Amino acid sequence: MKKAAPYENIIENLGEGVICVDPSMVVTVFNQSAEKITGLSRTQVLKKPLGEIFTRDAWLGEILEKTLREQKLFADYEKNLHRKFSAPISVGVTTSQVFDPEGNLTGAVALVQDLSGIKSLETESFRKERLAYMGTFAANLAHEVKNPLGGIRGAAQLLSRKVKDEGLKEYTGAIIRAVDRLNAIVKEMLDFARPGELKRRRLNIHKVLDEVVLLLTEGQTGPPVVKEYDPSLPPVVGDEDKLAQVLLNLVKNAREAATKNDGEVRLLTRMVTDFHLVDEGSREAKLASVEIRDTGCGIPPENLEKIFTPFFTTKPGGSGLGMAISYRIVKEHGGFLRIDSTPGEGTKVEVLLPTAE
Ligand SMILES: Nc1ncnc2c1ncn2[C@@H]1O[C@H](COP(=O)(O)OP(=O)(O)OP(=O)(O)O)[C@@H](O)[C@H]1O
Ligand SMILES: [Mg+2]
Repeated sequence: MKKAAPYENIIENLGEGVICVDPSMVVTVFNQSAEKITGLSRTQVLKKPLGEIFTRDAWLGEILEKTLREQKLFADYEKNLHRKFSAPISVGVTTSQVFDPEGNLTGAVALVQDLSGIKSLETESFRKERLAYMGTFAANLAHEVKNPLGGIRGAAQLLSRKVKDEGLKEYTGAIIRAVDRLNAIVKEMLDFARPGELKRRRLNIHKVLDEVVLLLTEGQTGPPVVKEYDPSLPPVVGDEDKLAQVLLNLVKNAREAATKNDGEVRLLTRMVTDFHLVDEGSREAKLASVEIRDTGCGIPPENLEKIFTPFFTTKPGGSGLGMAISYRIVKEHGGFLRIDSTPGEGTKVEVLLPTAE
């Protein structure tokens, strides 16, 4: 790699997004913050006409054009910016003209400030706090409920041995089944409350997916699951049992949603090329993506944030813990969980995990 001029490093590390265009409105500079704010990578953007990239945000091209041609400068111009994978964010844009040392106009620059940054940071830490609180709450509740449950189950078993009447035995059987179901929920709550250490190793995520699909589909009715795996996907690094739990929750949700006649669930894997993870040691980890797509009912926007809250459910028999646990596990792996849903059309849930390469 060529050595960057010092000012290039400064531009690269600025907290504001820097987007430069030349006089023909072709993008010449796109720094890291610009990547983060827009969700676009510079390989997608550099040397391309700005208008072709920000199709939904024509205003950006318009103000840069005005800056270039009419010397109109904009200061803290507030607008919403659309992004590929997540909701639009509000940004503040400041523009100016760019000249070379001889004083010739060589382009225009936009400084883009993420005004939602503070807000989304707040919701993230709020979400974490809420999860921690719910964790303690769940642990206490589970503990209190466990012992009496054991008592009820034992008494019902005793009774079933003592009663001769078959009709009455049916009732004791029903008590025991209900207790077992409660016990299963309590166990789930405890798993959620005490996550335990991750046992990280290199994993073939396709194998994990196959096992999950087998578990959910064998001998059961429901929408078909179509696999579109990328065979060249490198191993991911993670805890096999925990990741299986995540994928199980997500595929189960997708199958429960896609109950329409021609509903289906599709599992896609791929390497992520337009985004990478930089850890504290500045090492770059490439990400693998597992996408679970369903053609189901979709999630209304007002529920999107809530689905990560423990016990939020819209299903009669649901515990509402699946998404909360999955979110937590993926975060512990240093990964990401993205959701994109259109009510009436379906839902895409993407899990991004660090690969071993
Ligand atoms: N793929 C999906 N399509 C539509 N809605 C979904 C999807 N995934 C999650 N949801 C919504 O999010 C809610 C919470 O999901 P979560 O997995 O946490 O709990 P649950 O599925 O209701 O219960 P459990 O997972 O314990 O059976 C669901 O009740 C549903 O409303
Ligand atoms: Mg679920």
